[in-house]
Amino acid sequence: MRATSMVALKLYLSLGYLAFATARNVQSELGPSAFTAPYAFPTSAYKHYYNSPTAASEQPQPIISDPVSHVTYPLALTDPNSIPRNNTKDPHPLPPKASESLLLTQAIAQVLSISTNPVFGTDTCTRCQAALEVGKFLAMAAPEQGPAFAVAICDHFNFNSDCPTMFGLLGLGSVVTQVVANADVGGLDGQPLPSPPRFSSQLNWLVCKAKAQPASGIEEANDAPYSLILSALQAIPVLTGTQHTGFDFTVYTGDLVSHDPDNQLSRDYIMYAEVKTVLYDLFKRLLGSGPVYAALGNHDSYNQAQDAPHSLGGALADQFSWNYDHVAALWQHEQWISEEAVQLARAHYAAYMVKRTDGLRVITLNTDMWYRANYFNYINMSHPDTSGMLRFLTDELQEAEDAGDRVWIVGHVLSGWDGTNAMFTKLDRFSPHVIAAIFWGHTHEDQLSIFYANNATDISAKTAQVVSWIGPSVTPLTNLNSGFRMYEVDSSTFEIVDAHT
Ligand SMILES: *[C@@H]1O[C@H](CO)[C@@H](O)[C@H](O)[C@H]1NC(C)=O
Ligand SMILES: *[C@@H]1O[C@H](CO)[C@@H](O)[C@H](O)[C@H]1NC(C)=O
Ligand SMILES: *[C@@H]1O[C@H](CO)[C@@H](O)[C@H](O)[C@H]1NC(C)=O
Repeated sequence: MRATSMVALKLYLSLGYLAFATARNVQSELGPSAFTAPYAFPTSAYKHYYNSPTAASEQPQPIISDPVSHVTYPLALTDPNSIPRNNTKDPHPLPPKASESLLLTQAIAQVLSISTNPVFGTDTCTRCQAALEVGKFLAMAAPEQGPAFAVAICDHFNFNSDCPTMFGLLGLGSVVTQVVANADVGGLDGQPLPSPPRFSSQLNWLVCKAKAQPASGIEEANDAPYSLILSALQAIPVLTGTQHTGFDFTVYTGDLVSHDPDNQLSRDYIMYAEVKTVLYDLFKRLLGSGPVYAALGNHDSYNQAQDAPHSLGGALADQFSWNYDHVAALWQHEQWISEEAVQLARAHYAAYMVKRTDGLRVITLNTDMWYRANYFNYINMSHPDTSGMLRFLTDELQEAEDAGDRVWIVGHVLSGWDGTNAMFTKLDRFSPHVIAAIFWGHTHEDQLSIFYANNATDISAKTAQVVSWIGPSVTPLTNLNSGFRMYEVDSSTFEIVDAHT
């Protein structure tokens, strides 16, 4: 049989050590040089078939029994009409789930590998983004390890002289863990900001510094002691000659709370300062008649400078509401703002609008929403207004414009400070016909700045749109005399006619 001789030939050739001895006979023992396979499958090869493979159009499906396992393999294993697509039977092994402590040590080890891996060369930005990516997934998988990770990285790279205090759970650890977990650190959020133009050319600052000299003997001024605060407030009615008339109203541009490190602060301390020390109640008692319109500063929250956008979602969206609710209730308690404004303040991070009976609208802002030190601003950097703070402002400005009203804007961190320029285009659209004046704090100094139309492309009296007044501070930090400013205001246009510092 041909089949048999085929098998014999194969066997013969594989037995190499016999090949030489019998080589002389190979030629004569070979069959013909061609073989024609039969058209039909040789069904005699197997005993049983699932099909009848008599034509070449169908794959033979022999029934095969495994001599070892004794399994008879089913037709479905090879049936072209029902070949299983998803193998859910066999194991597909994965590594074991890492414990939280292993995740932490591995995350640190990976960042250190990234930090020394020569593949990044001098590209520190890419290196840093790769490391942030490690932090992001640790923060998501094991959030409780986030602060320890931040401290370890800070220590290793010597970011701070006291990393456990700075980035531990009791410091900014919870904030940076939230931010890294939520930010697109592999995208724009992880890239460095351009270095801050301290006085942005876009705004074309005209800063008139009338920085007071510190009183002799004061070398390093600290925050205002209680007695200084009281003296300053007592001096205001006397120096301004308003003992008998009081003020129509007062604007307070924020930062009630002392400039202490986070680890010396607490929610209770923030609320205490709001109620008791400088605060609101002293204003009420010592400044005479007229409401006080107050904005929050970067020192009026805990952790300081931190405010989370509602777009963070879930329980974290409202993690600072305790503060907004508290100040809104205090302002209401002092009868400075209406129920309507209180509701706005609760909903908009303590920002609100009041329409005064004299027609002026006062809009306050929480400027932490564009302040660099607020880590939450590093989430979704491609979106200019994750908090909706600017939207709140433009909605209010639009309503004022529709009503033909003038507006004063009160905030803390000035537009343009440390490169953040969030309000610029809004001012262009609504100045000068709607916005009569803007008030900021933050620098502690006696300053003002002027905004010009069209991105300040042509700086002249004709294109000047609005003045923002930056108020001096009661606190002598940093080597300043305590100060305040009184404004004389045109009662029909609400333009500032004169100012006295
Ligand atoms: C295979 O599994 C995937 C994922 O479970 C499923 O989406 C898909 O429908 C399955 N395909 C088949 C052919 O069962
Ligand atoms: C960031 O953007 C994503 C996608 O648009 C969104 O779901 C998320 O709420 C945003 N987070 C914040 C804090 O804005
Ligand atoms: C304003 O000018 C600056 C500097 O020339 C430029 O970078 C920026 O894009 C301009 N902004 C607008 C809104 O025109």
